[in-house]
Amino acid sequence: MDLYEALYTTRAMRRVGPEPVPEGAVRQLLDAAVRAPSGSNAQNWRWLTVTDRETMARLGPLYAEAYDILNNTVYAGIEPRDDQDVRVRSSSTWLAEHFAEVPLVIFAFHRNDPSGASVYPAIWNLMLAARGLGIGTTLTTILGMFKSAELFELLGVPTDRGWTNAAAVTCGYPTGRWGVAARRPVHDVVYAERWGEAPGWRVDEPLWPAG
Ligand SMILES: Cc1cc2nc3c(=O)[nH]c(=O)nc-3n(C[C@H](O)[C@H](O)[C@H](O)COP(=O)(O)O)c2cc1C
Repeated sequence: MDLYEALYTTRAMRRVGPEPVPEGAVRQLLDAAVRAPSGSNAQNWRWLTVTDRETMARLGPLYAEAYDILNNTVYAGIEPRDDQDVRVRSSSTWLAEHFAEVPLVIFAFHRNDPSGASVYPAIWNLMLAARGLGIGTTLTTILGMFKSAELFELLGVPTDRGWTNAAAVTCGYPTGRWGVAARRPVHDVVYAERWGEAPGWRVDEPLWPAG
């Protein structure tokens, strides 16, 4: 797959079917993930793959509870900004209601990372590699944010070694279609030379595929 196609079309694909992700693909995603950079090349990450249906049956309600907490705290009283936001919320709710059916979840854990940022390039590598194989992913964080203790207990993660859950990446074959991720135009969020000064260019349409 063209690099830019992967960059432009890797978006949150929450709605996935039940078909299992083959083991060869799982190996490929994780091997691509660990090629990513990390601060001091410390690679202070661990990856945990979950496909077991009994474990998933216990993770499902945990994810739904975390989603409720998110909606009752961070999003409490906040109306959707636009149609896109409505779609994101509707697909997020779908995931919360169907988390147990996701064929594969890859948990990323990290520790001893002052920036807290080192694991995210690797997670994104994993998601781009998945895109290349036609596997849809979603980077989710609410289990680690709101249900960390329960998650660690369920997955047997040691609680005395400094590990934090950075993400639970859902993986499966999408039921919907891939498309260019809708975002604010780049010239809206870029300054040139000094804060607040617009660059001398605009990009009114995404530069892939036309560019
Ligand atoms: C740091 C981070 C945390 C996220 N956490 C969640 C989450 O807990 N649950 C979820 O459904 N989506 C989560 N997402 C996915 C975002 O909602 C999604 O990337 C965004 O809405 C853009 O969607 P799109 O790529 O389909 O356009 C997260 C994304 C990021 C980058």
